[in-house]
Amino acid sequence: VLSGYWSHKSITYARHEGPVRIAWDGRDGNYRCAPRAADLPAARSAAYLHWVSNETVEGVAVSELLGEGGTTRVVDMSSDLLSRPMSIAPFDLVYAHAQKNLGPAGVTVVIIHRRHLDEPHDELPPILRYRTHVEHRSNYNTPPVFAIYVTMLVLRWLRETVGGLHAMGEINRRKAARIYRVLDENADVYDAHADPAARSLMNVTFRLRSSAGTAPLIARAEQAGLVGIAGHRSLGGLRVSLYNAVTEESAEALAAFLEAEAHAARRRG
Ligand SMILES: Cc1ncc(COP(=O)(O)O)c(C=O)c1O
Repeated sequence: VLSGYWSHKSITYARHEGPVRIAWDGRDGNYRCAPRAADLPAARSAAYLHWVSNETVEGVAVSELLGEGGTTRVVDMSSDLLSRPMSIAPFDLVYAHAQKNLGPAGVTVVIIHRRHLDEPHDELPPILRYRTHVEHRSNYNTPPVFAIYVTMLVLRWLRETVGGLHAMGEINRRKAARIYRVLDENADVYDAHADPAARSLMNVTFRLRSSAGTAPLIARAEQAGLVGIAGHRSLGGLRVSLYNAVTEESAEALAAFLEAEAHAARRRG
């Protein structure tokens, strides 16, 4: 599924391994939309169907389970795993780096269905076989112990301080709703990128209708202590990331700033 920057990369590298068929292509829509399950052709004959559940750069989220029964589903959940409750059962393989919601960079979480561990992969060196890592309890090579330790602390915080994934999901939903509301209420100033049905709770991407104002707005935000709102270098514009560690107070501070900026832009005409 080609839904944005990160799935494009996956497809590019998958082509080194074999033929790739694009089951859904979001390029013509400028990566504003996400596929619905009904939009996809049958993929049962494919080795697997791959998608990115949250396109971090475009701020587009796939909310439906893709692929009919019998499809092998492989999903990159790097930027939304553990941001809300979700069922892992329908997936064959889920992978996610840690550095968005789980912990520091250096750890990658892989959840694989047992049935795939016995598939023969004699052509691969042992370190590239998931079976090796399962058999050695993630200790086949020297693991990044400090990053794993911090990830454990984050998971404890999520369970004991936040109150679990349901509570985290509610907090994340409120944070995103607050920012999207500012964009929708000030649509004469801001242009939200994602189609409302595909809006990510993790990354809110948007532009100023008057693009010349982008750099000065980012500078004023920094002066107000709001850093890191520039869009990804490939897309430009603005991107607000609302990962688990971002508090509701921070989201509120940014929303108030964006409201004040919209009023000021209108006054300037
Ligand atoms: C959805 C997604 N997949 C993959 C990556 C690449 O991650 P890494 O830099 O840890 O390889 C990113 C990076 O932000 C991402 O957002």
